[in-house]
Amino acid sequence: MAPADRTVVVDNIGHLVTNDAARGGGPLGIVTDAAVVVEGERVVWVGPRSALDRVGADERVDAGGGAVVPGFVESHSHLVFAGERAEEFAARMAGRPYAAGGIRTTLAATRAASDAALAGNVTRLSREYLRQGTTTLECKSGYGQTVRDEQRSVRIAHDHADEATLLAAHVLPPEFEGRPDDYVRMVVDEMIPACAPYASWIDVFCERGAFAYDEARAVLEAGRAAGLGVRVHGNQLTQGRGVQLAVEMGAASVDHVCHTDAADVDALASADTVATLLPAADFSTRNQYPDARRLLDAGVTVALGADCNPGTSYTTSMPFCIAVAVRDLHLTPDEALWAATAGGARALRRDDVGVVAVGKRADLAFLDAPSHVHLAYRPGVPLVRRVLRAGRLVAEAEWWEPGAGLPAAAGRGSVR
Ligand code: NIG
Ligand code: FE
Repeated sequence: MAPADRTVVVDNIGHLVTNDAARGGGPLGIVTDAAVVVEGERVVWVGPRSALDRVGADERVDAGGGAVVPGFVESHSHLVFAGERAEEFAARMAGRPYAAGGIRTTLAATRAASDAALAGNVTRLSREYLRQGTTTLECKSGYGQTVRDEQRSVRIAHDHADEATLLAAHVLPPEFEGRPDDYVRMVVDEMIPACAPYASWIDVFCERGAFAYDEARAVLEAGRAAGLGVRVHGNQLTQGRGVQLAVEMGAASVDHVCHTDAADVDALASADTVATLLPAADFSTRNQYPDARRLLDAGVTVALGADCNPGTSYTTSMPFCIAVAVRDLHLTPDEALWAATAGGARALRRDDVGVVAVGKRADLAFLDAPSHVHLAYRPGVPLVRRVLRAGRLVAEAEWWEPGAGLPAAAGRGSVR
């Protein structure tokens, strides 16, 4: 571990996305020919290289003339699980529709798994996220649905992610079949008190085949009373009341929002609730994509997440989600990049990440590309080649040669 006050100069950045609108030129606050100075975990200087005072730096990191963006902020993942559902995916691609009931397959596998196996799965997937540029990670429980299994799930999420969420009402477990009221009572009386010490957030799946409005509301109210922030899975598969519930409860975010009517859009536009779009889930379920343009044009704050889970979205690639958001949801490349960084931070009510500015956590993703537009323009290509999280180099692609993929005019400095 490096000394806390170590100073690192990140130099030779051809195109820096800061998300600091005060820099002018729009919400991305782009600086060309830029440098960033990091001290310990924080950014202490951002600006054009020409204004950089190099005296006193302990280390220089050369960006090779390429683009650097804020580390992605993933505000929606389900990594505490065992097993996988490739067969369900294959059947779906052959025409079988997705239904929430598939979650029970993962429920059984997760209950049977050891703590070590569950923690190992979270470690594996969180490393995948990190290698692809995600430096802030929210992680949900929700594949236990007993007090014991939710408590160990949320504890593992707490130990391995930045934000842990108790997804207490994900699917009605088989032993409560036909008795949702009894399940909700158990969640309120036993599960929330046992799990709240490990969680920052309470979440529910408000959907046909999952939990109804009144059930979801009772769980969220109990979570809020226990000091947890509120988030909702809503309007994923049907035009339900999830968005309405989220706005009424002052939720930080309502996630999926694939089926929205005018009242939903109006409610979100005048609320402090972020609409978190998870297009990889819609891609892998052939679900209807959200009407993202309508949300954005109405002034709704939009975040993008990958929603890694074994059922609907088994990807940890935020760049892939950016590409789908641009191609299929009609976000501009600028909107998609903002939603995957600053938008995710808003959805988690964090102001220390998702932006490159003085005092913020030094989280940077270095791209083997001249601008952030390439994240959508070159889908499926592993463009993230180095990741700095809280000032520390946490991932570096073995194959990367600084500046090799860039036009000849770009610099080819040495690395570290
Ligand atoms: O975010 N919508 C509910 N939860 C997950 C899916 C879980 C599963 O199918 O295992 C989601 O898509
Ligand atoms: Fe989800």
